[in-house]
Amino acid sequence: MNRDDLSLEFVRVVERAAIAAARTMGQGDRKYSDQVAVEAMRKEMESVDIDGTIVIGEGERDEAPMLFIGEKVGRGEGNTAIDIAVDPLEGTNLCATGAGNAIAVLAASEKGGLLHAPDIYMDKLVVGPSSKGKVDINAPVEDNLKAIAGALGRSVHDLTVMVLDRPRHEKLIADIRRAGARIRLIGDGDLSAGITAAVAGTGVHAVMGIGGAPEGVLTAAAMRCLNGEIQGRLVLTKPLDRERLERMGITDLEKVYRTEDLAPGKNVIFAAAGVTDGTLLQGVRFFGDGIRTHVLVMTTVPHQVRFIDTIHAADRPDVKVRF
Ligand code: FBP
Repeated sequence: MNRDDLSLEFVRVVERAAIAAARTMGQGDRKYSDQVAVEAMRKEMESVDIDGTIVIGEGERDEAPMLFIGEKVGRGEGNTAIDIAVDPLEGTNLCATGAGNAIAVLAASEKGGLLHAPDIYMDKLVVGPSSKGKVDINAPVEDNLKAIAGALGRSVHDLTVMVLDRPRHEKLIADIRRAGARIRLIGDGDLSAGITAAVAGTGVHAVMGIGGAPEGVLTAAAMRCLNGEIQGRLVLTKPLDRERLERMGITDLEKVYRTEDLAPGKNVIFAAAGVTDGTLLQGVRFFGDGIRTHVLVMTTVPHQVRFIDTIHAADRPDVKVRF
Protein backbone atom coordinates (compact mmCIF):
# COMPACT_ATOMS: atom_id res chain seq x y z
CA MET A 1 0.00 0.00 0.00
CA ASN A 2 1.36 3.43 -0.82
CA ARG A 3 1.46 6.25 1.69
CA ASP A 4 -1.28 8.19 0.00
CA ASP A 5 -3.66 5.26 0.42
CA LEU A 6 -2.53 4.89 4.02
CA SER A 7 -3.22 8.51 4.91
CA LEU A 8 -6.70 8.15 3.43
CA GLU A 9 -7.23 5.00 5.50
CA PHE A 10 -6.40 7.05 8.57
CA VAL A 11 -8.95 9.66 7.49
CA ARG A 12 -11.64 7.04 7.88
CA VAL A 13 -10.21 5.99 11.26
CA VAL A 14 -10.36 9.51 12.75
CA GLU A 15 -13.75 10.13 11.12
CA ARG A 16 -15.24 7.09 12.86
CA ALA A 17 -13.84 8.20 16.24
CA ALA A 18 -15.12 11.75 15.71
CA ILE A 19 -18.61 10.61 14.71
CA ALA A 20 -18.90 8.32 17.73
CA ALA A 21 -17.71 11.02 20.13
CA ALA A 22 -19.84 13.73 18.53
CA ARG A 23 -22.98 11.66 19.17
CA THR A 24 -22.28 12.10 22.89
CA MET A 25 -21.67 15.86 22.70
CA GLY A 26 -23.04 17.77 25.65
CA GLN A 27 -24.00 14.65 27.61
CA GLY A 28 -21.69 15.71 30.42
CA ASP A 29 -19.89 12.36 30.55
CA ARG A 30 -16.30 12.86 29.38
CA LYS A 31 -15.28 9.26 30.12
CA TYR A 32 -18.09 7.87 28.03
CA SER A 33 -17.28 10.26 25.17
CA ASP A 34 -13.69 9.07 25.29
CA GLN A 35 -14.69 5.42 25.51
CA VAL A 36 -16.87 5.49 22.39
CA ALA A 37 -14.16 7.33 20.46
CA VAL A 38 -11.57 4.72 21.52
CA GLU A 39 -13.84 1.82 20.57
CA ALA A 40 -14.69 3.31 17.19
CA MET A 41 -11.05 4.07 16.41
CA ARG A 42 -9.92 0.61 17.50
CA LYS A 43 -12.58 -1.11 15.41
CA GLU A 44 -11.89 0.91 12.27
CA MET A 45 -8.18 0.30 12.61
CA GLU A 46 -8.74 -3.48 12.34
CA SER A 47 -9.29 -3.20 8.60
CA VAL A 48 -6.22 -1.06 7.86
CA ASP A 49 -3.38 -2.88 6.04
CA ILE A 50 -0.65 -2.17 8.60
CA ASP A 51 1.30 -4.01 11.23
CA GLY A 52 0.86 -1.17 13.71
CA THR A 53 2.08 -0.69 17.27
CA ILE A 54 0.60 1.94 19.56
CA VAL A 55 3.42 4.05 21.05
CA ILE A 56 1.23 6.87 22.39
CA GLY A 57 -2.23 5.76 23.43
CA GLU A 58 -4.74 5.58 26.20
CA GLY A 59 -2.13 4.54 28.77
CA GLU A 60 -0.41 1.40 29.99
CA ARG A 61 -2.05 -1.96 29.33
CA ASP A 62 -3.33 -2.36 32.93
CA GLU A 63 -5.19 0.96 32.89
CA ALA A 64 -6.49 0.98 29.30
CA PRO A 65 -8.55 -1.85 27.82
CA MET A 66 -7.92 -0.61 24.27
CA LEU A 67 -5.33 1.34 22.33
CA PHE A 68 -2.88 0.82 25.18
CA ILE A 69 0.82 1.41 24.67
CA GLY A 70 2.34 -1.61 22.97
CA GLU A 71 -0.98 -2.86 21.54
CA LYS A 72 -0.84 -4.19 18.01
CA VAL A 73 -3.33 -2.67 15.60
CA GLY A 74 -4.21 -3.14 11.95
CA ARG A 75 -4.33 -6.33 9.91
CA GLY A 76 -0.97 -7.37 11.33
CA GLU A 77 1.97 -9.42 10.08
CA GLY A 78 2.85 -9.22 6.43
CA ASN A 79 1.88 -5.55 6.28
CA THR A 80 4.07 -2.47 6.75
CA ALA A 81 5.32 -2.16 10.33
CA ILE A 82 4.56 1.31 11.67
CA ASP A 83 4.30 3.13 14.99
CA ILE A 84 1.09 4.90 15.86
CA ALA A 85 0.19 7.69 18.28
CA VAL A 86 -3.48 8.27 19.03
CA ASP A 87 -5.69 10.62 20.94
CA PRO A 88 -9.14 9.32 19.98
CA LEU A 89 -10.75 12.29 21.72
CA GLU A 90 -8.53 15.27 22.47
CA GLY A 91 -10.61 17.50 24.73
CA THR A 92 -12.92 15.05 26.47
CA ASN A 93 -14.38 17.90 28.54
CA LEU A 94 -14.88 20.02 25.45
CA CYS A 95 -16.97 17.26 23.89
CA ALA A 96 -18.85 16.53 27.11
CA THR A 97 -19.85 20.18 27.41
CA GLY A 98 -20.31 20.91 23.71
CA ALA A 99 -17.45 23.42 23.71
CA GLY A 100 -15.35 24.01 20.59
CA ASN A 101 -12.13 22.40 19.35
CA ALA A 102 -12.55 18.75 20.41
CA ILE A 103 -10.81 16.57 17.80
CA ALA A 104 -10.02 12.90 17.10
CA VAL A 105 -6.33 12.44 16.29
CA LEU A 106 -3.91 9.86 14.93
CA ALA A 107 -0.28 10.16 13.85
CA ALA A 108 1.86 7.44 12.30
CA SER A 109 5.42 6.95 11.20
CA GLU A 110 7.94 4.24 10.43
CA LYS A 111 9.26 2.28 13.45
CA GLY A 112 10.94 4.66 15.90
CA GLY A 113 9.51 7.70 14.12
CA LEU A 114 7.48 8.91 17.12
CA LEU A 115 8.94 9.30 20.60
CA HIS A 116 7.46 7.02 23.23
CA ALA A 117 6.97 9.94 25.62
CA PRO A 118 5.98 9.29 29.23
CA ASP A 119 2.42 10.13 30.21
CA ILE A 120 3.38 13.10 32.36
CA TYR A 121 3.29 16.87 31.87
CA MET A 122 5.41 18.82 29.45
CA ASP A 123 6.12 22.54 29.30
CA LYS A 124 5.62 23.54 25.66
CA LEU A 125 6.22 26.37 23.27
CA VAL A 126 4.60 26.04 19.85
CA VAL A 127 5.00 28.48 16.96
CA GLY A 128 4.33 28.58 13.24
CA PRO A 129 6.79 28.53 10.31
CA SER A 130 7.73 32.24 10.45
CA SER A 131 8.90 32.00 14.05
CA LYS A 132 10.57 28.62 13.70
CA GLY A 133 14.18 28.72 14.91
CA LYS A 134 13.68 32.14 16.50
CA VAL A 135 12.31 31.14 19.90
CA ASP A 136 13.80 29.37 22.90
CA ILE A 137 11.75 27.76 25.66
CA ASN A 138 14.52 28.62 28.12
CA ALA A 139 14.33 32.34 27.31
CA PRO A 140 12.05 34.80 29.14
CA VAL A 141 8.48 34.95 27.81
CA GLU A 142 8.94 38.57 26.79
CA ASP A 143 11.97 37.71 24.61
CA ASN A 144 10.05 34.97 22.83
CA LEU A 145 7.10 37.27 22.20
CA LYS A 146 9.44 39.90 20.75
CA ALA A 147 11.02 37.26 18.52
CA ILE A 148 7.62 36.04 17.29
CA ALA A 149 6.45 39.61 16.69
CA GLY A 150 9.66 40.38 14.77
CA ALA A 151 9.26 37.26 12.64
CA LEU A 152 5.69 38.21 11.80
CA GLY A 153 6.54 41.87 11.18
CA ARG A 154 4.16 43.19 13.81
CA SER A 155 4.14 44.49 17.35
CA VAL A 156 3.86 42.26 20.43
CA HIS A 157 0.47 43.92 21.03
CA ASP A 158 -0.77 42.32 17.84
CA LEU A 159 0.04 38.77 18.94
CA THR A 160 -2.40 36.25 20.39
CA VAL A 161 -1.09 33.44 22.56
CA MET A 162 -3.17 30.43 23.53
CA VAL A 163 -2.71 29.18 27.09
CA LEU A 164 -4.50 26.42 29.00
CA ASP A 165 -6.58 28.04 31.72
CA ARG A 166 -4.94 26.45 34.74
CA PRO A 167 -3.75 27.83 38.12
CA ARG A 168 -0.24 26.59 37.27
CA HIS A 169 -0.11 29.21 34.52
CA GLU A 170 -0.67 32.21 36.76
CA LYS A 171 2.89 33.50 36.31
CA LEU A 172 3.00 32.71 32.59
CA ILE A 173 -0.25 34.59 32.01
CA ALA A 174 1.03 37.56 34.04
CA ASP A 175 4.27 37.57 32.01
CA ILE A 176 2.41 37.51 28.69
CA ARG A 177 0.10 40.29 29.86
CA ARG A 178 3.04 42.39 31.04
CA ALA A 179 4.72 41.98 27.66
CA GLY A 180 1.54 43.31 26.04
CA ALA A 181 0.37 40.33 23.96
CA ARG A 182 -3.23 39.18 23.84
CA ILE A 183 -4.24 35.84 25.33
CA ARG A 184 -6.85 33.25 24.51
CA LEU A 185 -7.35 31.10 27.57
CA ILE A 186 -8.60 27.65 26.64
CA GLY A 187 -10.32 25.13 28.87
CA ASP A 188 -8.63 22.15 27.21
CA GLY A 189 -6.94 21.09 24.01
CA ASP A 190 -3.39 22.36 23.67
CA LEU A 191 -2.87 19.96 20.75
CA SER A 192 -5.55 21.56 18.62
CA ALA A 193 -4.25 24.95 19.79
CA GLY A 194 -0.74 24.04 18.59
CA ILE A 195 -1.98 23.06 15.14
CA THR A 196 -3.89 26.34 14.95
CA ALA A 197 -0.77 28.34 15.83
CA ALA A 198 1.10 26.78 12.90
CA VAL A 199 -1.52 27.75 10.32
CA ALA A 200 -1.35 31.34 9.10
CA GLY A 201 -4.59 33.29 9.16
CA THR A 202 -6.06 31.66 12.27
CA GLY A 203 -5.21 34.64 14.46
CA VAL A 204 -3.20 32.48 16.86
CA HIS A 205 0.56 33.00 16.95
CA ALA A 206 1.85 30.76 19.72
CA VAL A 207 0.89 28.27 22.38
CA MET A 208 2.68 28.41 25.71
CA GLY A 209 2.45 26.44 28.92
CA ILE A 210 2.21 23.02 30.49
CA GLY A 211 0.05 20.25 29.06
CA GLY A 212 0.40 16.53 28.42
CA ALA A 213 3.66 15.14 27.01
CA PRO A 214 1.80 12.65 24.76
CA GLU A 215 -0.05 15.60 23.21
CA GLY A 216 3.41 17.11 22.68
CA VAL A 217 4.40 14.18 20.46
CA LEU A 218 1.21 14.50 18.43
CA THR A 219 1.77 18.24 18.13
CA ALA A 220 5.30 17.53 16.88
CA ALA A 221 3.94 15.18 14.21
CA ALA A 222 1.64 17.98 13.05
CA MET A 223 4.53 20.50 13.15
CA ARG A 224 6.61 18.25 10.89
CA CYS A 225 3.86 18.51 8.29
CA LEU A 226 3.10 22.22 8.83
CA ASN A 227 6.71 23.33 9.11
CA GLY A 228 6.04 24.73 12.57
CA GLU A 229 8.02 24.19 15.74
CA ILE A 230 7.45 22.74 19.20
CA GLN A 231 9.93 22.83 22.05
CA GLY A 232 9.12 20.91 25.22
CA ARG A 233 10.55 20.06 28.61
CA LEU A 234 9.21 17.27 30.84
CA VAL A 235 7.65 18.44 34.09
CA LEU A 236 7.37 16.24 37.17
CA THR A 237 4.37 16.77 39.40
CA LYS A 238 4.11 13.49 41.33
CA PRO A 239 6.70 11.15 42.94
CA LEU A 240 5.42 8.44 40.59
CA ASP A 241 6.52 10.52 37.61
CA ARG A 242 10.16 10.14 38.58
CA GLU A 243 9.82 6.35 38.82
CA ARG A 244 8.16 6.31 35.43
CA LEU A 245 11.02 8.28 33.89
CA GLU A 246 13.65 6.09 35.54
CA ARG A 247 11.95 3.00 34.13
CA MET A 248 12.13 4.59 30.69
CA GLY A 249 15.78 5.51 31.16
CA ILE A 250 15.14 9.28 31.10
CA THR A 251 17.49 11.09 33.49
CA ASP A 252 18.01 14.55 32.02
CA LEU A 253 15.08 16.67 33.22
CA GLU A 254 16.47 19.83 31.66
CA LYS A 255 16.47 18.35 28.17
CA VAL A 256 14.60 20.43 25.64
CA TYR A 257 12.77 18.16 23.22
CA ARG A 258 12.57 19.68 19.79
CA THR A 259 10.15 18.83 17.00
CA GLU A 260 12.57 16.29 15.50
CA ASP A 261 13.19 14.66 18.89
CA LEU A 262 9.49 14.12 19.45
CA ALA A 263 8.63 13.09 15.90
CA PRO A 264 11.90 12.10 14.16
CA GLY A 265 10.35 9.91 11.45
CA LYS A 266 11.06 10.55 7.79
CA ASN A 267 7.53 9.60 6.83
CA VAL A 268 5.03 11.17 9.17
CA ILE A 269 1.28 11.03 8.69
CA PHE A 270 -1.06 13.15 10.81
CA ALA A 271 -4.85 13.07 10.72
CA ALA A 272 -7.35 14.99 12.86
CA ALA A 273 -11.14 15.11 12.56
CA GLY A 274 -13.26 17.84 14.12
CA VAL A 275 -15.63 16.56 16.80
CA THR A 276 -17.06 19.89 17.92
CA ASP A 277 -16.79 23.09 15.85
CA GLY A 278 -13.34 24.61 16.13
CA THR A 279 -11.03 27.32 14.84
CA LEU A 280 -9.58 25.11 12.12
CA LEU A 281 -11.99 22.20 11.74
CA GLN A 282 -15.74 22.00 11.77
CA GLY A 283 -17.34 19.52 14.08
CA VAL A 284 -19.39 16.54 12.97
CA ARG A 285 -22.78 17.57 11.61
CA PHE A 286 -25.69 15.15 11.69
CA PHE A 287 -28.64 15.67 9.38
CA GLY A 288 -31.42 13.56 7.96
CA ASP A 289 -29.57 12.67 4.79
CA GLY A 290 -26.28 11.76 6.39
CA ILE A 291 -23.30 12.88 8.40
CA ARG A 292 -20.69 15.46 7.44
CA THR A 293 -17.11 15.32 8.72
CA HIS A 294 -14.15 17.67 8.39
CA VAL A 295 -10.63 16.25 8.50
CA LEU A 296 -7.11 17.65 8.31
CA VAL A 297 -4.74 15.02 6.94
CA MET A 298 -1.08 15.70 6.28
CA THR A 299 2.01 13.80 5.19
CA THR A 300 5.69 14.70 5.11
CA VAL A 301 6.36 12.49 2.04
CA PRO A 302 4.90 13.66 -0.25
CA HIS A 303 4.54 16.94 1.58
CA GLN A 304 0.80 17.48 1.49
CA VAL A 305 -1.77 19.18 3.66
CA ARG A 306 -5.38 18.33 2.86
CA PHE A 307 -8.66 19.46 4.35
CA ILE A 308 -11.26 16.83 3.58
CA ASP A 309 -14.94 17.70 3.86
CA THR A 310 -16.98 14.52 3.50
CA ILE A 311 -20.65 13.77 3.37
CA HIS A 312 -21.37 10.22 4.48
CA ALA A 313 -24.71 9.92 2.73
CA ALA A 314 -27.49 7.90 4.28
CA ASP A 315 -28.30 4.66 2.51
CA ARG A 316 -31.54 5.90 0.99
CA PRO A 317 -32.64 6.22 -2.66
CA ASP A 318 -33.87 9.81 -2.19
CA VAL A 319 -30.75 11.12 -0.44
CA LYS A 320 -29.94 14.77 -1.19
CA VAL A 321 -26.47 16.30 -1.00
CA ARG A 322 -26.22 20.00 -0.17
CA PHE A 323 -23.20 22.18 -0.77
P1 FBP B 1 -8.18 15.11 27.45
O1 FBP B 1 -8.33 14.97 25.99
O2 FBP B 1 -7.68 13.87 28.09
O3 FBP B 1 -9.43 15.62 28.06
O4 FBP B 1 -7.01 16.19 27.69
C1 FBP B 1 -7.13 17.48 27.20
C2 FBP B 1 -5.97 18.36 27.65
O5 FBP B 1 -6.48 19.68 27.81
C3 FBP B 1 -4.80 18.38 26.69
O6 FBP B 1 -5.02 19.12 25.54
C4 FBP B 1 -3.70 18.96 27.56
O7 FBP B 1 -2.42 18.66 27.07
C5 FBP B 1 -4.00 18.30 28.90
O8 FBP B 1 -5.39 17.92 28.86
C6 FBP B 1 -3.79 19.20 30.06
O9 FBP B 1 -3.90 18.46 31.23
P2 FBP B 1 -4.67 18.98 32.53
O10 FBP B 1 -6.15 18.98 32.21
O11 FBP B 1 -4.34 17.98 33.57
O12 FBP B 1 -4.18 20.34 32.82
